[in-house]
Amino acid sequence: MAPLLDLQGVTKRFGGLIAVNNVNLAVDKGTITSVIGPNGAGKTTIFNTITGIYKPDEGDVHFDGQTIAGKRPDQITALGMCRTFQNIRLFHNMTVLENVMVGGHTQSKSTVLGAVLRTRSFKNSEEETRQEASRLLRFVGLPAGLGDQIAKNLPYGQQRRIEIARALASKPKLILLDEPTAGMNPQETESAIRLFRKLRDDLGITVVLIEHDMKVVMGISEYISVIDYGQKIAEGTPDQVRKNQRVIEAYLGRSAAAEIAAHEGAN
Ligand SMILES: Nc1ncnc2c1ncn2[C@@H]1O[C@H](COP(=O)(O)OP(=O)(O)OP(=O)(O)O)[C@@H](O)[C@H]1O
Ligand SMILES: [Mg+2]
Repeated sequence: MAPLLDLQGVTKRFGGLIAVNNVNLAVDKGTITSVIGPNGAGKTTIFNTITGIYKPDEGDVHFDGQTIAGKRPDQITALGMCRTFQNIRLFHNMTVLENVMVGGHTQSKSTVLGAVLRTRSFKNSEEETRQEASRLLRFVGLPAGLGDQIAKNLPYGQQRRIEIARALASKPKLILLDEPTAGMNPQETESAIRLFRKLRDDLGITVVLIEHDMKVVMGISEYISVIDYGQKIAEGTPDQVRKNQRVIEAYLGRSAAAEIAAHEGAN
């Protein structure tokens, strides 16, 4: 079966900088895949190129059987792909529930005219969107009653969950999470991992995450792609990647990697 998401030779430049360099990445439906690599490696730029924020300078991106390179972000969302951001992007002065309802906008059947006239079908559709948003808040593990609070007043870990709930409101086939556990304490991280598994196991959503926390990466991923200086330097199962010499060097530097290898050889 063809991969759900397939990057073929994707390159993205910023002036003279090649942020993403000829990257191939295939994500099979129903898998949990991590994209890892040092700071500035090009991971977020890969997500931005997949989600239509940037058009690749070279290469192609296929999603669910069609090419999406060059499509707008809202068109790509409508095809069943959603994401969260490295720096949380909520509407800070809106309530939690309103934030999630915005995510359902692409699915809502209401029209602008309906909204102005406040027709019955508009009200019904808004009520459906509201109920769906409440359901999603429960699904991501936010306490009941949180819906009316202003988003910016909530702790960081909860804001990350709201962002996931908002992404889910677009009824995605695939979700891209950009450093979803950054800034979380160990308990929050544990519970976030359970949520990521639930996305796949309960909702059947394919999950791709960028993650720095190696405990999360090794614990949750079925496949890992490693990016360094814009290029994919390794990929495979957690076990394969953990043992990969290029990966160890990218993370630790060549001399430290050699030292560890010598040390392990001595034991
Ligand atoms: N809009 C932009 N304009 C110019 N350069 C950019 C832009 N976005 C990213 N870059 C550069 O591209 C490179 C890759 O950045 P990117 O944010 O994709 O890295 P990353 O792997 O996500 O890093 P981090 O782990 O720190 O989030 C960096 O050198 C960055 O400075
Ligand atoms: Mg990044």
